[in-house]
Amino acid sequence: MKKITIFLFMFLITVFFFISCNKSNSEKTFSGSVFIGIAIPETHVERWVKDGASLKKYAESRGYRAEVSYAGADQNVQNEQIRNFLKEGARLIIIGSINEGVIAAVADAAEAKVPVIAYDRIISNSADYDYYITFNNYEVGQFQGRSIEQGLDLKNSVADAPKNIALFAGAPTDGNAFFFYDGAMDILNPYIEKGVLRVVGPYPKTSNDRYNFRYIATENWLGDLAKARMKKLLSTDAKDVILDAILAPNDTLSRAIIDACLGDPKYSNSKFPLITGQDAEADSILAIKNGRQYMTVFKDTTKLAEATIILADHILSGNVTPSIPGATLASGDLVSMGDTGKKVVKAFLLEPIFINKDNWNIPVQAGFFTPEEEIKLK
Ligand code: GAL
Repeated sequence: MKKITIFLFMFLITVFFFISCNKSNSEKTFSGSVFIGIAIPETHVERWVKDGASLKKYAESRGYRAEVSYAGADQNVQNEQIRNFLKEGARLIIIGSINEGVIAAVADAAEAKVPVIAYDRIISNSADYDYYITFNNYEVGQFQGRSIEQGLDLKNSVADAPKNIALFAGAPTDGNAFFFYDGAMDILNPYIEKGVLRVVGPYPKTSNDRYNFRYIATENWLGDLAKARMKKLLSTDAKDVILDAILAPNDTLSRAIIDACLGDPKYSNSKFPLITGQDAEADSILAIKNGRQYMTVFKDTTKLAEATIILADHILSGNVTPSIPGATLASGDLVSMGDTGKKVVKAFLLEPIFINKDNWNIPVQAGFFTPEEEIKLK
């Protein structure tokens, strides 16, 4: 009996020693590494969960210590998270912001001489950072506008029998929302002016019309708000109208709008509005396969994350105008995408991909989905 007790005791000592040695090794892997803070805005839009995981993966693959924070779409929370990163000695911070309130935390980073990369969303009204990396969001909007133009055959439509459209936009606190909207409306406005396309509900011609834009905008990209607004439209301006199309800026809102339309007996399998989207979310790929959503846009956020970490690498090694594989430095008309209102920052743009029922497999082949999502799409 005594021998067994001694053996067990020795065994436990060995196991404990092995674990503590491993733990210190894993800590050692990153303890001496440069620390990058990653501030992600929200998780109710599923793409951001993928963004956070990809950024951390690519940062660690290059030997950085990386910490991801999610702010639940609360800018005060995110500012606290950014300040904590600074206290923990972050040497660079990647920020997917929520609204302009982030500039106070960006100013703190500048004070501490810690570079900031605006990730996917520009940080407006700040001169305290130099880099922005995103997709060509104006082109995302053009994909949406062109799909309505082609899907409704506007080129051959006549003013005697106009097609009806309702307009939705993203969060008015998100600079991308204006580029998405203007990209789409630059294609649709000529048809509205000709009378072949009729807007049902508020109609800001461009996002510069901030007064009317706020009526079609969706605070924090919240699906519930879009659903409520669509239901209200269906019982007021769109009550006695068959909508032929709905401009929806991203998939979370597209599916909320689809839900609202499914509750209206005017719409059925045969007669359903053409509804746009973006982000290639798995449930929206399903909706496209089922004919409920017309299109989405694949923005490969794993590529965006990889390009961002390569940019971070260059910045941390002092290369201030790097070339980033898969991303182009905005030039010409696109330079304005880097205009914060206080300075023009270097904007690196990745290419979005148009997705519809004919090529929905592209994001699957790119490995964009989890195994569970892939099973859902089979
Ligand atoms: C935008 C982003 C879109 C979508 C939206 C909702 O800034 O560019 O891809 O994710 O936020 O979060």
